[in-house]
Amino acid sequence: MPRKKTIYDFYQMKHKGELVAWITAYDAPTAAYAEAAGMDMLLVGDSLGMCVCGLDGTVPVTMEQCLHHTRAVRNGAPNTFVIGDMPFLSYQVSIEEAVRNAGRFLKEGLADAIKLEGGKRVTRQIRAIAEAGIVVFGHIGLTPQSSGQLGGFKAQGRTIETARLVIEDALAVQEAGAHALLVEAVSPEVTQIIREKLSIPVYGIGAGPHTDGQLLIVSDLLGIFEAFTPKFVRKYASLGEEMKRAFIAYRDDVKGGGFPGPEHVYPMVEGEAEKLDELRDEE
Ligand code: KIV
Repeated sequence: MPRKKTIYDFYQMKHKGELVAWITAYDAPTAAYAEAAGMDMLLVGDSLGMCVCGLDGTVPVTMEQCLHHTRAVRNGAPNTFVIGDMPFLSYQVSIEEAVRNAGRFLKEGLADAIKLEGGKRVTRQIRAIAEAGIVVFGHIGLTPQSSGQLGGFKAQGRTIETARLVIEDALAVQEAGAHALLVEAVSPEVTQIIREKLSIPVYGIGAGPHTDGQLLIVSDLLGIFEAFTPKFVRKYASLGEEMKRAFIAYRDDVKGGGFPGPEHVYPMVEGEAEKLDELRDEE
């Protein structure tokens, strides 16, 4: 079993040009499969609101939900670097609350790091959380918690004005003491400049190839999220179709009397069934 990676392993991988592969995970069985597959790290994203709870965004997701799922992922993947995702309003209200909530991901969720959304507007939080000794991942570009302000789930950095803003955000996140940066749905030309300017690892989701590694949402990758598929997703499986096929087969077996079969029952101990007449005759 390979030992669990630390942020220093990710610095070294960047130095050597070794790309990092990570996905989101929300439950223990999926996390265990991901660990067995050699995934470098796992994000317990607040995307769980959409992928697990059927919400149409991440804003309603709570600390308690994030902690619950982070702990489940840790249980399933004890030897993988796990990142807890700070939900909306868990870090915006005050610096003190931000540090306390970040700490809960380590103490209660047993995560190795936290991620929070935003650039210049959250540098005080990043600095305070990092000063508390916590590994911090920044997240800029399309930040789903502020999709209202962005006018929806829209790609960022596609004009020179917004490209400048995204690059300023990246620099501010690093300057505040973040240990790594996630860039979401940003034009590849802009991500390339960010990676050239920053010394911390720069990872992407929908941000093109010029990164130190790639993240995908597990439900997109496996084909079990039908509501919406962003352009940047590559589906590696159609588990949704496979699940539907299995459910139909089971339903038909039950209705047709084909399940359970003789191999699925617990027969009585030899000689005991004959005595059942006594029970039948009892008043
Ligand atoms: O919650 C999440 O899964 C995320 C990704 C969209 C980057 O933050």
